[in-house]
Formats: sequence, C-alpha cells, structure tokens
Amino acid sequence: MIRLSTPGTVTTDRGYGEANVDRELTDLGVDSIHVRRGVTRQELHALSQFLWDMRDRQATEPVDVLLAKRNIHHISLGRLVPLDTRWWAAQWPDAPTGPLDPAYEESLTLTERTFEDVTAGRDLDLATVGNVVQLLIRKVAGSNAALGQILAVKLYENLTYCHSVNVATLSLLIAKQLGFDHALTSAVAEAALLHDIGKTRIPLEILRKPGALDKRERKLMEAHTVLGAEILIETPGLLPLTPTVALEHHRSIEGGGYPDVGERAVPHFLSQIVAVADIYEAMTGARSYQDPAMPEQACLILARLAGTKLNTALVKAFVNAISFFPLGSVVRTDRNELGVVIRTVPLEPLHPVITTIDDDFDPLPGELDTSARDASGAYARHVIETLRPPEGLDLSRFLATAC
Ligand SMILES: [Fe+2]
Repeated sequence: MIRLSTPGTVTTDRGYGEANVDRELTDLGVDSIHVRRGVTRQELHALSQFLWDMRDRQATEPVDVLLAKRNIHHISLGRLVPLDTRWWAAQWPDAPTGPLDPAYEESLTLTERTFEDVTAGRDLDLATVGNVVQLLIRKVAGSNAALGQILAVKLYENLTYCHSVNVATLSLLIAKQLGFDHALTSAVAEAALLHDIGKTRIPLEILRKPGALDKRERKLMEAHTVLGAEILIETPGLLPLTPTVALEHHRSIEGGGYPDVGERAVPHFLSQIVAVADIYEAMTGARSYQDPAMPEQACLILARLAGTKLNTALVKAFVNAISFFPLGSVVRTDRNELGVVIRTVPLEPLHPVITTIDDDFDPLPGELDTSARDASGAYARHVIETLRPPEGLDLSRFLATAC
C-alpha cells in the first residue's frame, strides 16, 4: 500500500488503513494509479514526492505533463467521473406519510421544531430534547406500530430530524438487548437523537444533492461531526457523552472513518451503538438517487461491516432485536402468501409471525407463524422476500400503537 505521509518515500504499510489511503488519494483528485511494466524505483519515489507536493497546491497543468516533467513515464493517475444520475432521480416525500403512531408523530414534530431552532441560530431547547428522549424511551420504543414505521422499508427521504428520531429509537432497541439501566438508556437516547445536529450547519442543497458529492462538498458534509460536537459542547446541561457520540459516530471500531482524531482512536461504546443504528436507518431510507434497501439486505450489509467498521456484538444485538423481516414488513412466503409481520420470534430471525393480507392489503382473519414445523421437523413455509409496501399503508391496522 502506498503511503503518502512520508515525503519522498513509497512504502508498503499494512498498519495504515486502506480507507485512509483511498481518502488521501481521492482528496488529491486521484481515483486510481496505473503502474506499467518497466517502472523504476526512482519513478515510484518521484510519484510519492509528487503526491506529497499536490497536498498543498493545485495542479496548474495536466497531470500527465507534470508527471513527465518529473521523469515519471511508467505511471499514470486516473480520475473517476461520477455519472450524473439526476435524470432518473425519484422524488420522495420528506417524511413518513399515512397514519403514524401518535407518540412517534409527536416526537417527530418536537424534534423538527428543535432542529429548526438550531438551524436558525437559536439555542438547543434542552427541555424539548428531554421530553423527546422520555417519549422515545417510554412510548415509541415500546410501540409495535411505531417500530414498524421505523424498521420497515421507508418510502420517504427523511430529513435530519426524522433520521435522528429513527436512529434514537433503533439505538434504544440495542440498549434493551444489552440490558442497559435507566441512566445509560437515557444517555444513548439523547446522544443518538442529537448525533447529526451538526447537519443543521450544512446547506440543504448538499444534504439533498442527487448523486455523488465532490471533494469540497464531501469535506463539508463530513464536518457535520465536528460542528455537531461544537454545538453540543456549547450547550450546558447535556449528558457528558452526547458531544462525543456526535463527533465519533462515523468512525470505525478499527480507528478509521472521519473525523481524523488519531489513527488508533477507537470510538466510545455509545458511539458504536449509534453507528449501527445510523447505518441501518440510512440504508432503509430512500434517497433521490437510490431506492431504499430492504431490511434483510440492510442486515446483511451490517453483518459484512461487523468486525471492521462496526462492533460485531452490537450488530448481533441489533439483528436479534429486529430480525431480518422486522415488524411492519410486507412479505411473501414460498406458498405465495402475502402478509405483514406482526411479531418476531426469538431465535428465529428468518421466520416471523405474519397477518396474511389480500391483494388490496386488507388483513385476513388469523395469524400465521412461519416458524412452525411440520411432522418431519422442517419449516412448513419460508419467507422468501420483502415487498415494497403500498404508499400510506396503515400499520396501526396490524400493530398496536403506543398508549
Ligand atoms: Fe452523521
């Protein structure tokens, strides 16, 4: 792996994360390095020096010309040009549509107002933050209808306030799995609710840009972590770990990610919890250039990130809590039955209990336990896919709301 941190040298360095090298090169506008047969040690040294020099100054001539001037003839640098995907960008609503669980709806309304205050330069309203945290702990996280609305495929492009309420609720599911006490549960809920508060300082056109961000936009977007920590540090009365989680929630357990707080700095345990919830929530939400991922796909991606970016035990706790076919998911069985998941079965993440529905998505009487076995001990049926739910599906017809 080529390391840029020592000028004039090209070294193989297993200790230096590939992601860091990728980011350094991308920041220089370099997406690939092509080395041709015949390359000399001097050319590699010259390339390293060239890349080092590029960190501080803009190229004034084409890169090929600059390389040739340094006698680098067997190496070329490539740049990926992002496809403009705006032509097929879908328009999604900004928030969930259809009837919502009342406690979930109230927490969304309060959080939206609180975040708008901060966007407008006013202080964070601690009393409202406290109210939302209690609402999430006491009602939303215990309401099957709310969980269904948060866990299932989301047919909306949720803005920061909505994402934050969802991430806080999902973090509470992990906290419950881990048996957190009240103090720690409140700490994770507050930190998760405010983890992205720094995005109130990022222009909306960047937050909602359809397609890839350029280098300047990406730097600005990544700065939401530091900006968030600053806002929270300047707000007296918050719990001590809340700014820490805002700062660290995009850092990996191996010490990579952003912001750069030191190569070996491992994020706090609460930051690791919020990271798991954040990634799931982001994947299952819609973006203008990307359809939402189905929950089972999102769970598989979390599993792939476990051990490197995410804490494996926390990914397991999360997937145990929600299962591959979470509450509220519209699914099809291998007997071509359609149903809405109304309950998950402990230790059976692939076999939920469903209420079958007709073609108009109206519930049919009774419920179907897909974890039931036949006389031979085999499952009587399997869930084979999650379907995109119809817009405005009223989950409260299937799942109990908060009371
Ligand atoms: Fe974030």
